[in-house]
Amino acid sequence: MSKQAVTVIGLGPMGQAMAAAFLKAGYAVTVWNRTANKADELVAQGAVRAATPAEALAAHELVVLSLTDYDAFYAVLGPATEALAGRVLVNLTSDTPEKARAAAKWAAGHGARHLTGGVQVPPPLIGKEGSQTFYSGPRDVFEAHRATLEVLTGADYRGTDPGLAQVYYQALMALFWSSMTGYLHAAALMRENGISAEEFRPHALKAADVSYFIGVMGEYLDADRHDGGEARMVMNAASADHVVHTLRDAGLDATVPVALAELFHRAVSAGHGEEGFTSLIKVLERPAG
Ligand SMILES: NC(=O)c1ccc[n+]([C@@H]2O[C@H](COP(=O)([O-])OP(=O)(O)OC[C@H]3O[C@@H](n4cnc5c(N)ncnc54)[C@H](OP(=O)(O)O)[C@@H]3O)[C@@H](O)[C@H]2O)c1
Repeated sequence: MSKQAVTVIGLGPMGQAMAAAFLKAGYAVTVWNRTANKADELVAQGAVRAATPAEALAAHELVVLSLTDYDAFYAVLGPATEALAGRVLVNLTSDTPEKARAAAKWAAGHGARHLTGGVQVPPPLIGKEGSQTFYSGPRDVFEAHRATLEVLTGADYRGTDPGLAQVYYQALMALFWSSMTGYLHAAALMRENGISAEEFRPHALKAADVSYFIGVMGEYLDADRHDGGEARMVMNAASADHVVHTLRDAGLDATVPVALAELFHRAVSAGHGEEGFTSLIKVLERPAG
């Protein structure tokens, strides 16, 4: 059997980790990056450096893309459309679901098939147990290449809509960024009070485990019920103000807590003051009509 082969386009920290994982798994790997010297270490490990995107596309059927955004996707592939026919593009670039859908159509127009992916782990966890990527797009393409994709991370196929992987990915990033920034606001307050991040760690880890709340809230949200009266929105709004005042008293930035307090007060103003925390979704969702 001939050696399995893959092209990796985009060698930021993520693409480099992916190309290295394929090399380690014994794949023949062709790479291309706009800034050519980012391929040096991979070439030293056995990768082949393509001179142009067209040459990279021509090298192998399976092409993994890891770029900053979909503008970069068109910047790289736009001048190489004649080399797209028959290729499978596994686009692990983050961007909006709409852009993923448009890219799938664009690729099909040039004879290529497009799988969208959203990688849920940072580069050091590529090739490690427990890592995961959301995929969506044609199921047959996913199944045909699943084993190869699993060299990188576990593969969680979400459905045929090419936007779906990015819907899952961006939803989780919304959760991730607010949790991580909340942690840094908290760590800044602790530091200001002489408490190190190490000392704070066990308390932060406990508070970051919101699984109980997510477990309970799902039922309320799906039933569109907001009577979780033990944590009324008026109380939540007052509590959010206390966080803002505490940070400001300490001379710290309060950008994210200010935004949260503003949302909580909007929910109260909209008539949800006596309802539970899930009523906040009423000010977050798309207005009716
Ligand atoms: N890093 C993470 O922790 C992480 C975790 C999960 C998901 N992701 C996602 O994975 C993707 C790649 O991540 P990364 O950290 O490797 O990103 P990155 O540092 O932004 O690098 C991405 C690559 O995009 C290329 N690029 C950007 N604009 C370009 C353009 N106009 N033309 C040609 N090439 C262009 C860069 O080329 P140059 O080298 O020439 O600049 C680089 O190779 C992103 O979509 C990111 O959101 C990242």
